[in-house]
Amino acid sequence: MKYNLLLFFTFWINVSLAQVDKPQLNNVTFFGTRTGKDFFYQIPVSGKRPLKIQLQHLPAGVSFDAEKGIISGKLEKDGQYKIKINVANKSGNDSRDLTLVAGDKLALTPPMGWSSWYSYGRKVKEEDILRTAKLMKQYGLDQYGWSILEIDDPWTNQPGEKDPVWSAFKDKPDNKVYEYHEGPGNLTDRVGLTRDQDGTIIPNQYFKNIGQTVKDIHNLGFKVGIYSSPGPLTCGGVAGSYQHEQQDAEYFAKTGFDYLKYDWCSYGIFAKDNSITELKKPYELMGKALKSQPRDIIFSLCQYGMGDVWKWGFETDGQLWRTGGDVRDNWKSIYSAFKLLADKSAYVKPGRWNDPDILQIGAVGAESRSGNSNHLNNQEQTTLMSMWCLLSSPLLIGANLEHMDPFTLSLLTNNEVIAINQDALGKAANLKYTFPNQVEIWSKDLYGGGVTVGLLNPADQEKEIKFPFTLIGKKGRYQVRDLWKKKMIGTGLKEIQAKIPPHGILLISLKE
Ligand code: GLA
Repeated sequence: MKYNLLLFFTFWINVSLAQVDKPQLNNVTFFGTRTGKDFFYQIPVSGKRPLKIQLQHLPAGVSFDAEKGIISGKLEKDGQYKIKINVANKSGNDSRDLTLVAGDKLALTPPMGWSSWYSYGRKVKEEDILRTAKLMKQYGLDQYGWSILEIDDPWTNQPGEKDPVWSAFKDKPDNKVYEYHEGPGNLTDRVGLTRDQDGTIIPNQYFKNIGQTVKDIHNLGFKVGIYSSPGPLTCGGVAGSYQHEQQDAEYFAKTGFDYLKYDWCSYGIFAKDNSITELKKPYELMGKALKSQPRDIIFSLCQYGMGDVWKWGFETDGQLWRTGGDVRDNWKSIYSAFKLLADKSAYVKPGRWNDPDILQIGAVGAESRSGNSNHLNNQEQTTLMSMWCLLSSPLLIGANLEHMDPFTLSLLTNNEVIAINQDALGKAANLKYTFPNQVEIWSKDLYGGGVTVGLLNPADQEKEIKFPFTLIGKKGRYQVRDLWKKKMIGTGLKEIQAKIPPHGILLISLKE
């Protein structure tokens, strides 16, 4: 009897391990590239190394680096190119189709990566970015689709105190359009010449080898993002792109950047008023400049939702736009970020994403004074990740990865949850129903049928609900799965009953 039990456990452990060891292609669906532009794509695949990846039907102009798992090149004609990917190791194999879509759309699924803002903040240095890229590799985050490292403010120089830029601000009229910048004197070791004789932007002393850093990060298989502002100064008070837009776009492309976050700070003094024409102007300028470069560069608008940017952001050739101000690691801040998007799902589709801001998950303290911790408890961080996935929001990790912990890692590597964010249909959830006890039902339709539902409890106490699926128009019987636990709740169900912890969520999928 004892021996049988032992055999059973050994079998069970082996089966479970084999499941983790088995290769799995994560979020491999559609990838958008601009026709005639250089692109690269690292295949996100989890499972025990070494892996053998084989591709079929690679189109002309595109090559595959089997060792790094990177597909790169350019496609000269508009169209859809279906590549069959097969990956195998000792524990099994997986295969999927990846469709390269050549045309004018980028980011067919929400961008995923990391941003330096909440981890290194105003003290960021290039070695922090490279170290983070290595940590992302070490933790296997690339295997789940985390593919971009964005260098945020401040990587350029702050003009000296006597530079006319500062007095220019004082002389300008207040047009009542958001205008903010810091300095002079706030970044004393980042003061210097902002541009050379040709007008080329000069990185500050902490980014002297920026070109090499970008190459090293590309070599690890990641894309690299950069930050600027359409005004003369960024929010942190260092040089922005004003009147150098085309030149900066060329510099970004030459240096190898794949993504630009373009803020608004200090541009407020040039915008004549709050009209859409004025709000659009600086983004149209940069969007066009980026589009004229020989490589794909994703364009992220960061103007905090002014003028209902979700309605027109795509017209500036942007793929994502911030929908509100900076989020912080407290419940009030993140809950209002979800609620702002409760009725804006109509604006979200492949290549057009509402961005409620960087994920407040893990050690995000640099700019919110939490140190290397987070003021959100684990339940709240789980809710945050679930909601960003339901809303099809870009996922940028805010954490300092030098302080990674098992819980944070578990939030970032659940492939069933991430698959909801990266779903190929590209729809966002909206708020469908609120129970009398405050619990909210958010739901999102998925590619090929099926729906994901988040039962969110914003209250400070546990709440119990009975959820008949008819509340979201589902009249049949469904297979119901708990996505965080990766476990079936039941089959043939018409409703479920659940207790939801305070500020917690139950994230489930329903399939016929
Ligand atoms: C603004 C943006 C932030 C960050 C800072 C940098 O506040 O919203 O995400 O980029 O500027 O100064």
